[in-house]
Amino acid sequence: MKFFIDTANLDEIREAYELGVLDGVTTNPSLMAKEGVTGKDNIFKHYRAICEIVDDNVSAEVVATTFDEIIAEGEELAEIHEKIVVKVPMIRDGVKAIKYLSQKGIRTNCTLVFSAGQAILAAKAGASYVSPFMGRLDDIGSDGLDLIEQIMQIYRNYGFATEVLAASVRHVMHLIRCAEIGADVVTCPLNVITGLLKHPLTDSGLEKFLSDYRKGNPEYKEAL
Ligand code: E4P
Repeated sequence: MKFFIDTANLDEIREAYELGVLDGVTTNPSLMAKEGVTGKDNIFKHYRAICEIVDDNVSAEVVATTFDEIIAEGEELAEIHEKIVVKVPMIRDGVKAIKYLSQKGIRTNCTLVFSAGQAILAAKAGASYVSPFMGRLDDIGSDGLDLIEQIMQIYRNYGFATEVLAASVRHVMHLIRCAEIGADVVTCPLNVITGLLKHPLTDSGLEKFLSDYRKGNPEYKEAL
């Protein structure tokens, strides 16, 4: 299972990367705006900075919505760095653009996917990743996890190469349930990744081990 971090914040990306478990980054126009990154030059510079931190898989989203404009923007984004994956929305022209870009060897991530039908189209078009948004489905009373499971089954039935990238992951249980059903990738905020570390029995157990050690070794100072 790959872990992507869903942010455009360079410090958070660095922190997740330094933990040694990060496989990529997903961004979107809202996340870029949250970091105050505006204007094409700054946006491209920011993507380059992200690519310099991680090993691969940096999703950069197009803002164009017509076929010609999506492929032109997608090609430009792909030229920024070999680690870029072009993120394209699940719209009619987006599907056509995914087909075109994937035939040119440009990796794509089909975003804003909310149904199995959309996921089938993304795979047929040759998307490298499909991003079903589980949190946003949960928000409206639909089961995001059911959709991930359904897509996994469909892709297995036909041996589609598209990887299922569970997106809009809001909490640790989302991530764990995705792992149980075998999602290829999960993208989530830093607090979900670091949330995996936590258990009160780990904290109390370590405290006890260290205090017992300290008794026999009064010079010992732990780094924590
Ligand atoms: C996916 O790539 C999106 O950037 C993201 O997961 C959306 O998450 P949100 O619903 O928390 O905005």
